[in-house]
Amino acid sequence: MIGASLEILSPMAWGVCLGLLWTFGFPDQADGGDFQGSTHLIEFERNPIRYSTSSSETAVDRLSRQWSEEGHSLAYHSGSGYLEGLLEALDIAPASQVLVFAKSSAQRDLISPRNPRAIYFNDEVYVGFIPGAPLLELTAADARLGTVFYTMEQRRQKLPRFERTSQCLECHAASRTMGVPGHLFRSFSVDDQGFVDFTALGDQMTHRLPFAERFGGWYVSGDPVVEQGHGRWLADSDELDFDPGAFPGEGSDVVAMMVLGHQVHFHNYVTRLNFEARIALRQYGHTRYLRAQIEAFLRYLLFVDEAPFPSPISGSSAFSESFGKRAKPDSQGRSLRDFDLEDRLFKYRCSYLIGGEPFEGLETSVRRQVCRRLQQILEKESAPPPFDHLDGVERRAIHRILSETRPGVVALWAQN
Ligand code: HEC
Repeated sequence: MIGASLEILSPMAWGVCLGLLWTFGFPDQADGGDFQGSTHLIEFERNPIRYSTSSSETAVDRLSRQWSEEGHSLAYHSGSGYLEGLLEALDIAPASQVLVFAKSSAQRDLISPRNPRAIYFNDEVYVGFIPGAPLLELTAADARLGTVFYTMEQRRQKLPRFERTSQCLECHAASRTMGVPGHLFRSFSVDDQGFVDFTALGDQMTHRLPFAERFGGWYVSGDPVVEQGHGRWLADSDELDFDPGAFPGEGSDVVAMMVLGHQVHFHNYVTRLNFEARIALRQYGHTRYLRAQIEAFLRYLLFVDEAPFPSPISGSSAFSESFGKRAKPDSQGRSLRDFDLEDRLFKYRCSYLIGGEPFEGLETSVRRQVCRRLQQILEKESAPPPFDHLDGVERRAIHRILSETRPGVVALWAQN
């Protein structure tokens, strides 16, 4: 399947070598432990997954259906094409903008420090935009298939439409994405033109990656603490290498980057667990062999291995505001989206993505095991290691927030 997709790709000059390096070239230290190092590619084109031939149901598919039924009213701008209209239609805040200048992705010939690639995201959809590029690139969460990929042409058309494609899997299905079609968000070692040194840095920037290894190949704006990573800090707009007016958002917010980093790996994790569960059910009729993986998922869900902040961080208020809009506060006004930013990302360390659409798509027996174990961790007199980074106060707060705002999670708890 990968061979076939490369043939189609060749007119677009997407790199074969790069794709192979992506798949085989790097040791996967940070993510290896999640599945005991076993993040080999799952055979997702075969039964029971049948990734490319199964129909998807994502926010992008829903928008597409709505356009074909009601017509579309997407505005077109000469610089950014359909981007802004699309972000609005998908309910993605321009303030989620992060900018990468590494020549690391599909349309990389067009990416450089003078013309970075922007990524925008909400909880379910991610959009990639490069000024002057022929395609917008999108990824969206599907409950059964995990990440689904789309492109949208940026030339003005009567009926702009999304094209679902599996061509992206050349890079987006590899050990770094946990062996399933998934998201990428990596720190690179780059030269001053944006060319990537594939023998150096290259880990996914999850909340676990030490700060000193983060942000390579990315612009970063926010508190100067980020200078401790490899990013280029946007301090003064007079000195920018690129035209900020080419993008609807401002800068490349450090907090947005950290949220994105947590989120991409969470989504990949859920997809991997889901595929493993569906395959196990078909093979053995149960999911009992997945206990260790479920325990490891809980470590991620509860931020066990989060890298400590070198010092407090502050990002843009526009991003915090738009991120907070989706908060579901409990009766005391507390939410899983509350930031800490003193020595860690979130105040209450249980992912805000719990109970969201991709999580709810997790195969039921696995979801039940996750929710029950979570209940145990939160309700025990003292938290069992490695979850003892959560003290009683934080565990009680998380318990209350979940009880009041995540009915799907609590419904699977054991009745006391
Ligand atoms: C040559 C490798 C490569 C190919 C091919 C590729 N990507 Fe990516 N993609 C990346 C990398 C690397 C990142 C991480 C951000 C960056 O470095 O630009 C990424 C990030 C993304 C993101 C933001 C985060 C995420 O993973 O959701 C989107 C959206 C995206 N790509 C869409 C696509 C789509 C759609 C296609 C196919 C049309 C595609 N990509 C093909 C390498 C690739």
